[in-house]
Amino acid sequence: MTDAERRSRASEAFFGRRKGKPLRERQAQHLQTLLPALKVDLSTPAPAELSTLYDFSPARIRLEIGFGGGEHLIHRALETPDTAFIGVEPFVNSMAKLVGRVEETGARNIRLYDDDATELLDWLPAASLDQIDLLYPDPWPKRKHWKRRFVSRVNLDRFARVLKPGGLFCFASDIDTYVNWTLMHCGAHPAFEWTAENAADWLTPYAGWPGTRYEAKARREGRKSAYLTFRRL
Ligand SMILES: C[S@@+](CC[C@H](N)C(=O)[O-])C[C@H]1O[C@@H](n2cnc3c(N)ncnc32)[C@H](O)[C@@H]1O
Repeated sequence: MTDAERRSRASEAFFGRRKGKPLRERQAQHLQTLLPALKVDLSTPAPAELSTLYDFSPARIRLEIGFGGGEHLIHRALETPDTAFIGVEPFVNSMAKLVGRVEETGARNIRLYDDDATELLDWLPAASLDQIDLLYPDPWPKRKHWKRRFVSRVNLDRFARVLKPGGLFCFASDIDTYVNWTLMHCGAHPAFEWTAENAADWLTPYAGWPGTRYEAKARREGRKSAYLTFRRL
């Protein structure tokens, strides 16, 4: 996609709120002073080697779409310092919080994008990612809103382009109709295979799983989750 097309495109897959409560002064400062250095610049062409976005040579590169409170992203970044992460979140308050956590923890392996993930996906070089995490995406439970769900044929095409062969797409949700929807869409997509061998595989959280804020809310409200893993063929 060219820059002109990108500028003229309304947010394709983001339908949520961009702002919540007014930011505290320190958070606003973080966004102004720290985010620019961490933010992936889509106005310049992507580097042929995505690893050059980092000041070390990463063993793997992982994308998290819609990181919300950022608990999972920070946990994984600290747990695996040799992996590079890109976190995407258009909600300003969440981005401000995450940038603060990056500063507190000194994590060097995180880059960020603060708008619709489809824009970043179209910018990334082909076969540049080892893993995409889509954890508790906005569920859009009403049937008339299903078309807003992030999982769609067109976004799976995007995932297929940017994942390396053998790369993983991990999807967690507490909404049965969204889990079925994702199984159906990935099942129909020639580039993805579901890795599950038995029910335990999709009922058991991923290794080292720290939980997320949205998952805690689902539990409080009595909903269980499914943890799906698809392999890019
Ligand atoms: C239900 S919340 C889950 C947040 C977090 N992953 C968790 O489990 O707590 C979904 C998040 O996805 C973000 N989101 C929605 N559409 C998006 C898009 N097109 N690109 C990137 N993030 C998006 C929202 O702003 C929101 O923070």
